[in-house]
Amino acid sequence: MALATVSDGRPLYERVGGEIVSLIEGGTFRVGERLPSIRQLSSKLNVSINTVMQAYAVLEDRRVIQARPQSGYYVCPRAPEITAEPVSANQRFRATAVTFSDLCQQVIRNMMNPELLPLASAVPNPQHLPVDKLSRIMAAELRRFGPQSISYMMPPGSERLRTQIAKRSLLYGVSVTPDEVLITSGCVEAVHLALRATCRAGDTIAVESPFYFNFLQLIAEMGLKALEIPSTPKEGISIEALSYAIENNKISACLVIPNFSNPLGNLMPEERKRELVQLLASREIPLIEDDIYGDLTFGQQRPFAAKSHDRKGLVIYCSSFSKTLAPGYRVGWAIGGRFQDEMERLKMMTNLAAASPTQLALAEFLATGGYDHHLRAIRRIYAKNLSQLSEAVARYFPEGTRMSRPGGGFMLWVEMPEGTDSVKLFHRALEHRIGITPGSIFSLSGKYRNYIRLSSAFWDERSERGVETLGRLARDAK
Ligand SMILES: Cc1ncc(COP(=O)(O)O)c(C=O)c1O
Repeated sequence: MALATVSDGRPLYERVGGEIVSLIEGGTFRVGERLPSIRQLSSKLNVSINTVMQAYAVLEDRRVIQARPQSGYYVCPRAPEITAEPVSANQRFRATAVTFSDLCQQVIRNMMNPELLPLASAVPNPQHLPVDKLSRIMAAELRRFGPQSISYMMPPGSERLRTQIAKRSLLYGVSVTPDEVLITSGCVEAVHLALRATCRAGDTIAVESPFYFNFLQLIAEMGLKALEIPSTPKEGISIEALSYAIENNKISACLVIPNFSNPLGNLMPEERKRELVQLLASREIPLIEDDIYGDLTFGQQRPFAAKSHDRKGLVIYCSSFSKTLAPGYRVGWAIGGRFQDEMERLKMMTNLAAASPTQLALAEFLATGGYDHHLRAIRRIYAKNLSQLSEAVARYFPEGTRMSRPGGGFMLWVEMPEGTDSVKLFHRALEHRIGITPGSIFSLSGKYRNYIRLSSAFWDERSERGVETLGRLARDAK
């Protein structure tokens, strides 16, 4: 906390009061929270105790804060009304994003905003996650491993966790030893390391289109060029188009999400995965595969990974527990094939190691916590949620709207009639406190303007009304 050194003509106590108000508006101090004591604040801001007392008294008069006897000063429940010009929800959420990355950032920020109906959130609903069990296991593991639990677990990471991951990899057709698994801080880091191990700035990377916007940003940020290859709900990335692209461009790597892609939610047929791996292998081009949604199938059989067809060590498999167990644990992994050593070196150079306590907890949960039972339960919930979301879109969206039919995960890709502007719809939806993801951020070349991605992860009784409102707004979003 600091007070502007240049005086703006206001008395000092008002400037101190203004500082507190900004901290409350900015969310540093929330409704019901205790503020610093008069003595603390006076020493932090280097002003007299009298000045702070005066500032607190004014804020108390304005009902921004209240004094509680023997306890201190607290933020009043009516905090949102503290400014002279009350800030309405609409004003707070009104977007000013203009560039691709501004829009991405705004979408990501809004994802965790509890005031919005979470139709944009590509995160699992914690209500369906084994929060208590994981916490109990974590506490027990910290006791069991003592000092080791707070030391570095240098790459490749916890051996116990890598053993569990190696065992489970058989389910997606990949047979590896624990030494072939590298623990990362989430799937995004695994993909980042894979890109760094296979490409240099200026290189071209083939990606499916539409494609997860965070990876598009990452590619741009690394100075790589993305070649967007069309993907269809039935077939995944077009092998024919990719083959043509390879003939006519120097492609350094290919990045895809074959199982329940983000945003399409489609499953690439096994035969197509084999063709993809073979095509790239014939040109010695590495394939980076993100399989983060693979465990969330609605079918009987967990789909295989493209990596299961890898005979040359050219496929880098990336995944994490973020969609199935604990996004905040930040634990993922890569099976890097011939790039494993380089990825391990890069991992150490970047952030040394993934967090130890969460690796310990996940290793124990996978060994004893009933992961498969948990997966069966959440797959049922997500299948039901997605079908309710699809029905609601069919009911309330304008005629001519079409949507994907995901075979797993919790996301729906919606194509609205030509001319509908999803960015406009995104802003209008925020005014109604509804979060959605505009389609245009799933391409770097301006496609998908009339598409949106909706998430059913948090589907509940409020959601249907939200989709009804969206459908109405979509009619005018031209
Ligand atoms: C396809 C895909 N990969 C990776 C991630 C994020 O992975 P993590 O949280 O494990 O880094 C997401 C999150 O939305 C995703 O959709």
